Amino acid sequence: MSTPFRSGAFRLSPSDYSALTDAAQQNPEVYWQNQSTRLDWIRSPSSAQDTGNGWFADGTLNASVNCLDRHLESRGEQIGLIWQAEEADHVVRLTYRDLHARVCQMANVLRDHGISRGDRVAIHLPTVIEGVVGMLACARLGAIHVVLFGGFSPEAIADRLADSGATLVITANVGRRGAKRIPFKTTMDSALSLRPETLSVRSVLVVSVTDEPVPMQAGRDELLTPLLEKAETSCPAETMASTDPLFLLYTSGSTGKPKGIVHGTGGYLTWASYTHELVFDHQKGDVFWCTADIGWITGHSYVVYGPLSNGGTILLFEGMPSHPTPGRWWEVIQSHKVTTFYTSPTAIRALMREGNDLPRQYDLTSLRVLGTVGEPISQEAWSWFDDVIGGGRCAFVDTWWQTESGGIMISPVPGAVKEKPASATLPLPGVHPVLLDDKGQVLDGATEGVLCLDGSWPGRALTIWNDDALFQTTYLRPYPGHYFTGDGARRDEDGYYWITGRVDDVINVSGHRIGSAEIEDALAAEHAIVESAAIGIPHDLKGQGIIVYAVARDPSHPELEMLAVRAITAKVGRYAVPEKVYIVPDLPKTRSGKNVRRLMRKIACGETDGLGDLSTLADPEIVDVLIRIVQG
Ligand code: PRX
Repeated sequence: MSTPFRSGAFRLSPSDYSALTDAAQQNPEVYWQNQSTRLDWIRSPSSAQDTGNGWFADGTLNASVNCLDRHLESRGEQIGLIWQAEEADHVVRLTYRDLHARVCQMANVLRDHGISRGDRVAIHLPTVIEGVVGMLACARLGAIHVVLFGGFSPEAIADRLADSGATLVITANVGRRGAKRIPFKTTMDSALSLRPETLSVRSVLVVSVTDEPVPMQAGRDELLTPLLEKAETSCPAETMASTDPLFLLYTSGSTGKPKGIVHGTGGYLTWASYTHELVFDHQKGDVFWCTADIGWITGHSYVVYGPLSNGGTILLFEGMPSHPTPGRWWEVIQSHKVTTFYTSPTAIRALMREGNDLPRQYDLTSLRVLGTVGEPISQEAWSWFDDVIGGGRCAFVDTWWQTESGGIMISPVPGAVKEKPASATLPLPGVHPVLLDDKGQVLDGATEGVLCLDGSWPGRALTIWNDDALFQTTYLRPYPGHYFTGDGARRDEDGYYWITGRVDDVINVSGHRIGSAEIEDALAAEHAIVESAAIGIPHDLKGQGIIVYAVARDPSHPELEMLAVRAITAKVGRYAVPEKVYIVPDLPKTRSGKNVRRLMRKIACGETDGLGDLSTLADPEIVDVLIRIVQG
């Protein structure tokens, strides 16, 4: 059942939307050429195609100019960024003019530290203004930013610094969470000391989030604030080719090694702007709150590049959901009159647990568009968000996309596409999903299959940093002629898409993408463990939780579970800690030695009836042993 059209004053009507879809279908080149004009180009592109090496190949532009300078004349005094601290009375409001000045100061500091076009700058920060400013300052100089999630372990940071070849790091002394302090700087110090011969970092600039002193290494580390205060508030912007990398962002896949997804400048920014305007019905006066950390693609496209390229007002909140008080998010929406609220199903599930009375104590009537991203949302969570938070009045956009797509691909468009609770609904104009069977045949009509994308779109990633061959084998080879997303989906009789989850060995924990192989590689480094398999199983709060089966060198060792957890925390980060580690004598394998994950998943979920044909296993008896261990 679809919901009726929402009755707000939305930008697009159903017929406008059909006109866009038809135009994109009939003449994609003209359509994308038109869309590219939403940006200010130094040299306009003469073609609007994917050359295989990126979009709008002969165009030149600067992303920070598109997010800042071009707004100065028309909306220099408009608030571009609101930063809300954990404490309700601590708010910083920056106009576009302020933001421009801050970005220029940061760019000048980076340039004084030897950063120029093509250099990689790592950003490892809590939710502070310097994160957004640092990204745009890199873009101004043509340097490539590499934002590292605050939850990464030193090992994970070191791997990413080494792979990207970053020469400068922006970090913070600490992050704040109530009275608790998250040790950003010392985590970075540990990362930098792990394998120094693999690293190129020369400078570490430290944002002082609090007054707490942290160890500083002379000649390498400097406090950022005094440098910024002395810096000039103007800075020329580099002219970049449309296909020059704007950023790298590491994400997980089927291999243990994280992949540095490379996004270009002109195509990516066109996509961020196009999708932000269309999906969030961007209008003058909107206050846009995307709760994602800038360490993830959602933070790149919908905290920074989408809304700022469109001249919007973004809100950054230092705190967590329900923190420091359970109603804190609702209080933030009320006090800043947030119009557009984009968050994750995991956050919604957690907030639902606080009950309906709490949000009803706040005035949430400023909201007009609600969005979710990162994982499938249940109908129950969808309806709760729609009803209790949106008051049944708001457009609801369940947006499907991924790091590699650069921006939203499948989503309702407010006022133009009827929603169905828990469906991502229809592809945006110009996006062409297809469903395939195991053999790669395209399936028609209402069906279920592997989700691929046909043709290219401006936001598509250029490649994987240092490994174009892996880009080809991961996305383009599995189903020749189609781009493989790694997801499965169902399509109903109305052509609506329902994402069913990953079909590869990627586990989605609270919207965090974690490769099974990343966990298994971490455990392989632990001497006490001979072999392991990490499996994702449904989890009430996190969407998926991780279960590990591990074969121990000495099963009588008393602390195997603790060693396993410690190995994962050290190599990946706390966000990848499993729900349970089962110590088992062996893993179920085929005769050719392949782990049978399907069986391990069923056993972990307690689905032990109908395990299917076990005769292909090298040792069918292991199945009963595993069942006994899991059932305790
Ligand atoms: O499995 C899909 C899931 O998140 C994956 C992409 O993760 P990442 O690259 O970290 O980007 C997350 C933010 C875009 C996808 O392959 N996913 C994303 N959005 C949805 C989703 N699953 C179901 N419904 C969604 N709306």
